[in-house]
Amino acid sequence: MFITFEGIEGCGKSTQARHLKDYLEGNGREVLLTLEPGGSRLGKELRKMLLSLENNDLTREAELFLYLADRTQHVQQVIRPALHTGKTVISDRFIDSTVAYQGFGREMHVQTLQNMNRVAVDGTWPDLTFLLDLSPETGLRRALERNMVQNITSSEGRFEAEALDFHIRVRLGYLELASQEPQRIVVLDAAEDQDTVFDRVRNRVNEYMENL
Ligand code: TYD
Repeated sequence: MFITFEGIEGCGKSTQARHLKDYLEGNGREVLLTLEPGGSRLGKELRKMLLSLENNDLTREAELFLYLADRTQHVQQVIRPALHTGKTVISDRFIDSTVAYQGFGREMHVQTLQNMNRVAVDGTWPDLTFLLDLSPETGLRRALERNMVQNITSSEGRFEAEALDFHIRVRLGYLELASQEPQRIVVLDAAEDQDTVFDRVRNRVNEYMENL
């Protein structure tokens, strides 16, 4: 089973992904929790390039290709081998991030990006995706607070530094994707408290497994 978490900065998806890992492991499953960008060895290098404020001269096309390079390494070297050994894989961001951020945020052609995702994942699609929906005002406030606590303002702030309307487009992009694929993408209100959000995640995962 392959599960992904998506949403704008500060929506709490990394926390939910960790909770789900713990929950499934508690039920005796082997779980790999991974992330994009940065889920493979090469991906860690790409992540530094992608998130560094020094690289604010990256063209949107170069940015796209780096995310796709990260994804295909991740799928082939990490995700697929784990799925083949029977692990449940949870990824913090995956294909929908590219459509939401590069497609809706950077206003690149969505259908083209979907085709490029198809090449990058080569048949390895998520079974279930949780979209933690949140207003960008709340998300950015949370993300900036977190960055201050972790002191990562200078190294990993490239997206947090984008204007609010960029994040509004990203959010709407995600919601549009969810309306196109309601079976796969579950929209959750990330303004609710973490335990409530996690109850919904757990219930949906259990329901999915019962229907396998
Ligand atoms: P990260 O620090 O992982 O952010 P978050 O904690 O919000 O997940 O940074 C990942 C950034 O990369 C995030 O701003 C979204 C962006 N991104 C894209 O623009 N396209 C993509 O395909 C992916 C995977 C991420």
